[in-house]
Formats: sequence, structure tokens, C-alpha cells
Amino acid sequence: MNILLIGSGGREHALAWALSASPLLDTLYCAPGNGGISEIAECMALDTNDHEAVVAFCKDKNIAFTVIGPEAPLVAGLVDDLAAAGLKAFGPSKAAARLEGSKAFTKDLCAKHDIPTAAYGHFTDAEAAKSYIREQGVPIVIKADGLAAGKGVTVAETISQAFEAVDDCFDGRFGEAGAEIVIEECLIGEEASFFALVDGKTAIPLVTAQDHKRAFDGDKGPNTGGMGAYSPAQVMTEALCARTMDEIILPTMEGLAEACTPFKGVLFAGLMVTKDGPKLIEYNIRFGDPECQTLMMLLKSDLLPALLATADGELDQVDIRWRGDMAVTVVMAARGYPGAYEKGSEIAGLEEAASDPDVEIFHAGTELRDGKIIAVGGRVLNVTARGGTVREARDKAYAAVASIDWPEGFCRSDIGWRALQREDAAA
Ligand code: AMP
Ligand code: GLY
Repeated sequence: MNILLIGSGGREHALAWALSASPLLDTLYCAPGNGGISEIAECMALDTNDHEAVVAFCKDKNIAFTVIGPEAPLVAGLVDDLAAAGLKAFGPSKAAARLEGSKAFTKDLCAKHDIPTAAYGHFTDAEAAKSYIREQGVPIVIKADGLAAGKGVTVAETISQAFEAVDDCFDGRFGEAGAEIVIEECLIGEEASFFALVDGKTAIPLVTAQDHKRAFDGDKGPNTGGMGAYSPAQVMTEALCARTMDEIILPTMEGLAEACTPFKGVLFAGLMVTKDGPKLIEYNIRFGDPECQTLMMLLKSDLLPALLATADGELDQVDIRWRGDMAVTVVMAARGYPGAYEKGSEIAGLEEAASDPDVEIFHAGTELRDGKIIAVGGRVLNVTARGGTVREARDKAYAAVASIDWPEGFCRSDIGWRALQREDAAA
């Protein structure tokens, strides 16, 4: 079958890599793709905001299945528009995508179905928001309601920080996304990323992961889209995974089905593992980036039938197998990221860096120009490795990083530190 993959990041390169190994695949198209994806798929300059153009492309190229990587096209209803044209896609409908698109929607669903999450209030008025903050005290978390590319969250340690965050939201710093705000109890614990394929009636947990959101070593510096990840996250024991399914994923799936907006796709629960168990911080309706890169490294089964079964509502017939080892992804970003950075530098040494069969380099912001790989984004490469232990996977990933010739890039040197500490403590 012909497949269209939508997106341009490291997540999509990892998905393209896994999909391209499927014997069910004829041609893989990717819109827009990147320099790395262009080596394994036909990259197309298709405007994915123009749903009619996507439908026309699918018809023209005889696309049997469209896999949507990022949240924006899902929240915009691309799956619904493809379905209306008789085209099958992986990802939730616009109505179910509100789980990521609207924090207030998710909070209301949690309240209705007793899903453990932070206590909260939502507000459209600054004065009401501030008096709630005064009542609750600090630390407290302030979030713009809509999609703010991960930048709409403030964990405020003082009342004045909290008030400033409220004013920022209502002053339009996040545009429409900040017209409504959610104020939450600050959860204390360790974060983990939990993934499940969900078809509306059946949910299958995937392996867990943990990402590193801060730009610099020691979890310092500004928040980013993610500077690295490892998988599985040992903090998520079998018992905690079972609780997450029972207390969070299944009630969400059932709640949405009851509301006649069933969720189909990958449900990504951002969890805080608190002393009382896992609590939901937020839902995403897509694979995590860079978590997806580590997941794909560990996947033994063919990805494509699992994604198809999700769309077809046949997950009860699917069995997904994983390699028993660990995977680590180190993100290489352009110097300056997440602030201003230069574009246009050349990256060399990638082939040698990826010569170890346990190493894959998934591209994000790259372009292939005249046979050269050029950095064109903030997060640029995802150097991913697997090994029997986190240490082994991490060492392989950093050995690959060392043989990449890109002076304009940087990476964190401590990806997987929590996992290494645990491994060392257990040894
Ligand atoms: P979000 O955009 O909702 O993923 O939030 C970004 C980050 O803010 C999360 O990964 C957490 O580190 C932090 N965060 C969000 N909500 C809370 C909360 N209720 N308690 C503690 N930390 C939070
Ligand atoms: N790595 C977190 C995310 O994809 O949202």
C-alpha cells in the first residue's frame, strides 16, 4: 500500500524508518519531511493546512493510509476531512483531539470520570484567577488553555510570578491560546511519558519513556521541545503501568466513547508519579518527540499493521512485541536553541556515526542540498542507540555524537541520568 506520513521532525523520521521496514508498504510519501526522511521516502511540499489539497494528493497517489505525526493537523480536523472523502488515517478526530487542544476539556473529563490529576480551576478573567491563586497559595501552575507549543506553562514559586503569568496570558502573549487559563495544583514527583494505542474500544500500552525538557545539563535552562529521552522509564513499574491503564487510559477511552467522540490513535499521557501513584499532567494525542525515536528503536513488531488496526478498530487482534533492551536518544540542536540560532551550517560524518547497527540517527531540522545535510532548524538530529543497559545505550549514542562533525551544534551530556543512577544503585 502507499502511505502518506505528515510531519517533519525526528518523530516522523523514526516513524518513516519503522514504516519503511514493513512488507506491506509500496511507496512512502512524506509531507513535508526533512533531509533524513528524504533518504527513505518521497518528500512532498504539500500544504497540510489545506485539507482539500491533502485529499486531492491522496487520491492522486492512491494513498491507502495517512499517518499524522504532529498535533496541529489533528486538532484542525484533518482526520475528519480525510474520512469524509473516504480516506483512512491514523490519529484522532477533531472532537477527540480536544484532549490535547484544550486543557479545560481534559480537566472536565478527568473530573467527570475520576481520573487522577492536579486540582484545578479555569478562568477567563484575571481578577478571578488571582483570587483563586491567593486562596490556593504557591507553588502553583498556570497554563494557557490552547496549544502554545509547550511554552504556555508557568510553574510559579511565588505569588508575584503567578500573577505575572496570569497577566501574560490575558495580555495575548499566547494569542487565542491564552484567552482562557487553567490554574493547577503543583504535583510533586517524577515525570514519565506513557503511550497507548487506542481504537475506541481497546487500548494497548506501549513502552514508557522519560524525556529531558530543559536545554542544559542538570535539567537547567529554558524549556525546550525535548533534548533527549530514554525508554523504558524504570520509574514506571509494571504495577504503575497497570494502574495508569486502569485509572487513566481506560476511563478516558470509555468517557470519550460515551460522549460519542471515540478516540483512535496514540494517546500519550504525561504523568507525574506522585507518592499517591500516577497522576495525569496532560494528554497529547500523538507520539512524543523525542520519545517516539526511542520507542521505534525498541519495537520488534511491524508498526504498520498496528497503526492500521488502530484506525480500523481492531486492536483486540493485535499483539505488539518489544525488544527487551533500553534505548537512548540524544538531541543535537543548533547553538542558541531554544532562543535564536543560525541556519545553514553543514553536518558531516553522519554515515560513520550511524555505522553501529545499534545506532540510528533520526533527523529533525535538516535539509538535503546537493548531497549535503544542512541544519535548518532548532532541534536538528536525534542520535538514538539501544543496548542491554542504559549505560550501554547511552555510551553508543554519545560515541555516535562524537563522530558527527557539526561545530554549530550542541547537546546535553547527561541524557538518561536518572536511569543511570537507578542502574548504578541496583548494581
Ligand atoms: P505541559 O505543557 O502541560 O506538558 O507542561 C509542561 C511541564 O510543566 C510539564 O512537563 C511539567 O514539568 C510541568 N507541569 C505542568 N503541570 C504541572 C503540575 N500540575 N504540577 C507540576 N508540574 C507541572
Ligand atoms: N517530548 C514531549 C512531547 O512530545 O510533547
